[in-house]
Amino acid sequence: MEPQGRQPAAPLRVAELSDGRRVTPMLRQFADLKEQVPDALLFFRMGDFYELFFEDAEVAAGLLDLTLTARDKLGERPIPMAGVPHHAVRNYIRKLIELGHKVAVADQVEDPKTARGIVKRAITEVITPGIVTDPENLDAKEANYLSAIVRTETGAGGLAYIDVSTGEFACTELDEESGLLAELDRLAAREVLFDSSLEGGPFLSELQAALDLRWTPVPVETFERRDAERELKDLFAVADLGGFGLDESDAGLRAAGAILHYLRASHVDNLGHVRRLRPYRLETFMGLDENTRRNLELFRTLADRRRKGSLLGLMDQSITSMGSRRIRQWISAPLLNPADIDARLDAVALMVDSPELRAAVRDRLARVQDVERLTGRLMSGRANARDLVALRRSLEEAPAIDQLLDRDDARSLPLFAPFADLSDLCADIEETLADDPPAGLKEGGLIRRGCHPELDELITLSREGKAALARIETEERKKTGIGSLKVRYNRVFGYYIEVTRANLSAVPEHYIRKQTLANSERYYTPELKEFEAKVLGAEERRCTLELELFTQLRNRVAARAAELGELASRLADVDAGTALAELAVRHDYVRPTVDDGLVLHLEAARHPVVERMNLGERFVPNDVHLDPDEHQLLIVSGPNMAGKSTVMRQVALIALMAQAGSFVPAREAHLGVVDRIFTRVGASDNLARGQSTFMVEMSETAAILHQATSRSLCILDEIGRGTSTYDGLAIAWAVAEHIADRIHCRTMFATHYHELSQLALTRDHVQNVNIAVSELGGQVVFLRRLRPGSASRSYGIQVARLAGLPDEVLVRSRELLANLETDAMDSIGDPRLARRKGEERTTQGQLTLFNDPGSLLRDELMRVDMDQLTPLEALNLLADLKSRMGSS
Ligand SMILES: Nc1ncnc2c1ncn2[C@@H]1O[C@H](COP(=O)(O)OP(=O)(O)OP(=O)(O)O)[C@@H](O)[C@H]1O
Ligand SMILES: [Mg+2]
Repeated sequence: MEPQGRQPAAPLRVAELSDGRRVTPMLRQFADLKEQVPDALLFFRMGDFYELFFEDAEVAAGLLDLTLTARDKLGERPIPMAGVPHHAVRNYIRKLIELGHKVAVADQVEDPKTARGIVKRAITEVITPGIVTDPENLDAKEANYLSAIVRTETGAGGLAYIDVSTGEFACTELDEESGLLAELDRLAAREVLFDSSLEGGPFLSELQAALDLRWTPVPVETFERRDAERELKDLFAVADLGGFGLDESDAGLRAAGAILHYLRASHVDNLGHVRRLRPYRLETFMGLDENTRRNLELFRTLADRRRKGSLLGLMDQSITSMGSRRIRQWISAPLLNPADIDARLDAVALMVDSPELRAAVRDRLARVQDVERLTGRLMSGRANARDLVALRRSLEEAPAIDQLLDRDDARSLPLFAPFADLSDLCADIEETLADDPPAGLKEGGLIRRGCHPELDELITLSREGKAALARIETEERKKTGIGSLKVRYNRVFGYYIEVTRANLSAVPEHYIRKQTLANSERYYTPELKEFEAKVLGAEERRCTLELELFTQLRNRVAARAAELGELASRLADVDAGTALAELAVRHDYVRPTVDDGLVLHLEAARHPVVERMNLGERFVPNDVHLDPDEHQLLIVSGPNMAGKSTVMRQVALIALMAQAGSFVPAREAHLGVVDRIFTRVGASDNLARGQSTFMVEMSETAAILHQATSRSLCILDEIGRGTSTYDGLAIAWAVAEHIADRIHCRTMFATHYHELSQLALTRDHVQNVNIAVSELGGQVVFLRRLRPGSASRSYGIQVARLAGLPDEVLVRSRELLANLETDAMDSIGDPRLARRKGEERTTQGQLTLFNDPGSLLRDELMRVDMDQLTPLEALNLLADLKSRMGSS
């Protein structure tokens, strides 16, 4: 038992250091640095370790599994401390960033050897989820956006974003909150800055509830327009922002200013690779709200949130990370202007038609590294010699790619415009740096021989020194007659002569003893001392000089950041365009015709992702036609599992792919530009937002009815199914009617309410279509073919059987279905023919039928009318029978 009254003293808090208490100079220094970055976990360099103190230590120890200790004590109170070895610090920082924390690094900024008193330290780096430049902390295929949002007095919103690792910087204004939400979701921003006065308000709460991002409050003053303008003028070194087309963007500009302010406060000083602030308007891109993006599985699958299996996963056939990011960007913001779309399609078509050019370009691209992010690293001052060599090797490929594209049919295309010539920069790097330099910058070996005369001299000197060493050894052996005498070096004692104990008697008088070991003595001579000074001095000067030359080179390259960024962007275009061609050829896609009309006509269209899955059956292509006159609203019916959802999604995906500039999976495709795609698909709960399944369904439907225009494409999958049958039918009907009579947008509406088919009877522009199944011997065979007319039955029970519902339940379902179909219900919906307790089953015979596959088979075969069967139906029937035989 602990003795009473001897409670351990509570650990000291960092805030308590500022109360005028006398603290050690080291603690004082720590407190000063911590004050600069109060919201970051501060890694404080001490010798070979980075230490965390106070609350930081407690937080980090928990997250990183570090041992929490206490270092100095101030009075009775311990100071919590936790440390990591300096060489492993990057791993620990990465973990903290992944967990959404902000980290600051305080390094020693003077040489401890020459420092008087305590070594000077400074914050050298601040890393937040939105500010990352380390390749090991970045997903190569995705941008890493830091964004800022602002809300104006009128309720409009401004948004800006930057990718510090690539220099991309843009801003926009939005009228509605929903637009802001969709845009933040599109960007998948790693961190969002907001004006701290919004905290707790409905505007921000709504966004925070919907989007799982890191939200960072910043003071409201950082959004001042005047400051924003000043920050931007400073950054781009211009007196006027007019040239950037920013005059109209007030809220966007203010958001951009807040970002720059935040970066500066985070010690991100060098933004030379940020070439411009690009104002953009959402109206120039196809609108895709966050539900649609999710439902269509553009970037992640719904089931496991993975890239594989998504549209992007399929479409991204690019070679470089720059190309990957570009394709993602194209998919996330499809174009609206047919001329722009055609420009991309022309480039893809050229590459489709020129297999040799395509192969040659891709072959070259394989040797190009991420020039964009290497430039970002350069600007953050963290690029080492290997990075510069990688940059040089990549730049060396550029002229060859440029040359490949130097043909009339390519040069007329904006995507394949000529590259700038950066060969002088290449030459500079090549002449300065060794071919295979080390990763470290302090040990020399960076600079090529012949680059700098003084350096060469120092290298010769230290090399000669080593030869001289061998000479001294031979001479001393000869003079003393000690054959085993050695001249050696170690870090602590420098150069010395070592003589074994047995030979001590032969040691000459002028040897001066330095150290005694168990079996030997170590000596030096004045000659050796003199030599040592020369060699060690040369080594040290060499390393310093190499670092200096390297830094100069790095600055020269950094000064060309804008050109490097431009080249990276050109490479991304070439890679992305060529990759789309590769995709088209690989999967047999066709070039779509895109115009300003309102027709959507697809022949033999396929679902790009489903057709590549292992289905166990061939994917059946379908024709789909939509136009405002006769086929504006298609009511899609068909049994469960027939393929309704698949065919509707494929129409939406094809429209999106076409407007992104890609070929599409169809035999022929004609598309009048779609301004927005809306989807209401499936029943996805959104418990995080505190909404029920039905509530989500209805609010998504409401958004569609409010926002869709006659140019939109609507995919509605089973609206109204989340509530009672009659309510659901009533809502579904009214929604369909509203779309048909008011909005007039091209729409596909899948439903199991057969009553909806009657809508087509009263309106010329509404059509019924259904997905064919054939019914053979009471079994469904999926034909997957879309055809005119409405389906007569649901086959829900048959599908339930395929899914393995117990036979007894199935039999009972059939019985109830029969009751319902003969209208055997009373006024409150209770089946009139519900079995009474103890009543005999009326369907015993059917039960045995189900259990005896032999008789089932015979029965069904007897019922088949060979004259009515197409070959495909016959095959499907056979496959179906076989699979059921196997499973029963
Ligand atoms: N055209 C096709 N060719 C081949 N297989 C297809 C085709 N369309 C759909 N399928 C297959 O059928 C499965 C079910 O399709 P889908 O989900 O579209 O059916 P559904 O009609 O929407 O069913 P439910 O009414 O239950 O929602 C798909 O997962 C796919 O494996
Ligand atoms: Mg479905």
